[in-house]
Amino acid sequence: MKTKKLHTQVAIIGGGPAGLLLSQILMRQNIETIIIEAQSREYVLKRIRAGVLEHGSVELLKNAGVGERIITDGIKHDGFLISSENKSFRIDLSAATGKSVYVYGQTEITIDLYKAQDKMKATIFHCVKDVNISDLNSNKSKVQFNCSKENYEITCDYIAGCDGSMGISKNYIPKKIKKSHIINYPFSWLGILSNTKPVNDELIYASHERGFALASMRNENLSRYYIQTPHTDKIEHWPDELFWEELCIRLPKPYCRTLERGKSIEKSVTKLRSLILEPMQWKNLFLAGDAAHIMPPTGAKGLNLAFSDIFYLSQGFISYYKKGSSTKLNNYSKVALKRVWKTVGFSKWMTSILHNSNENSLIERNLNKLELAELKKSEKAQKLVAEQYVGVAY
Ligand code: APR
Ligand code: PHB
Repeated sequence: MKTKKLHTQVAIIGGGPAGLLLSQILMRQNIETIIIEAQSREYVLKRIRAGVLEHGSVELLKNAGVGERIITDGIKHDGFLISSENKSFRIDLSAATGKSVYVYGQTEITIDLYKAQDKMKATIFHCVKDVNISDLNSNKSKVQFNCSKENYEITCDYIAGCDGSMGISKNYIPKKIKKSHIINYPFSWLGILSNTKPVNDELIYASHERGFALASMRNENLSRYYIQTPHTDKIEHWPDELFWEELCIRLPKPYCRTLERGKSIEKSVTKLRSLILEPMQWKNLFLAGDAAHIMPPTGAKGLNLAFSDIFYLSQGFISYYKKGSSTKLNNYSKVALKRVWKTVGFSKWMTSILHNSNENSLIERNLNKLELAELKKSEKAQKLVAEQYVGVAY
């Protein structure tokens, strides 16, 4: 079979939010890209993921020409509730930081990005197979793949590995220089989506001795709820009635009373873990998003961190192609990792303080309760949480 040859400046592996946003920003600067994506577009657009956008993510998306619907259809949140043993207090984001976050599902962002990319006539291959990277040390790096039974070879200046946690890009960083830092938490989140009115107009992060719960939303008639479950639990263990019962027990009392229950339209289990991969660059390959780091979902940082990587990486490419300077690209891994470590620290803290499991000793549980009580009393501590939640500045 003859191999079809293509050329571009930046080849992007992965058409999730990270890869799409990178292509969007670069194309607006007339930098050429080609995206290759392992799944069909329908599959990518069906994935349900977290839905809180940091202030910086909203600004970045607006500047990339994809912020319109966030403002019209997203919901601005100036604060959120934390509850400990059924009693809640509020973290006032806007009072503490002057900033807010937006609740806007990742699915919607991906829709917006695909639309914008189509409008710019972006080249996106779907359902690609047998992806292979080579010549990372030369000025003609290569990405080979198969798509619809045709073999392709892209030669390019740079490769962006935006292929998520199950991707192949990270395998091309040599073992002898690659470091993985991993925490496996001893619990999962069971999440449901239901066509019901959200129990509150702000998110509720609930710590309870039976385990954590989160009340979130997508819009005024679409709720997203999670409860912490043991690793061993499967979706079948949690019929809807049992889920609502358990959620109710863990939420602050007034919300339990008004909780609207309904049929779940989606149900999924996510194991919680933290992973940081270092370095995020090797030769002409740059990793971004879930390809380089995984967050527990507790502070909704995964998508936001993917976007801050894309900010730094796009700045690097723009500086290289527009000013001929490689400095920002050479510093990408160092600069991006600084923010990654800070964010991982925050999401680990939020995860640890809000979850209870049998593997937690009584000392840990009591210390968590004590720390939450301190947080409730201390404006200074709340300000620190608020600053991290709205996102560390880029
Ligand atoms: N070739 C091409 N594409 C691939 C390959 C491959 N070998 N392997 C995986 N992919 C694709 C996946 O199908 C997916 O669509 O890469 C894409 C990666 O997208 P995401 O997993 O959404 O990751 P990312 O774009 O980094 O998005 C940030 O942070 O915490 C999360 O939920 C958040 O998914 C969000 C992520
Ligand atoms: C969500 O709405 O899916 C969500 C919100 C906040 C989180 C995690 C997930 O911390």
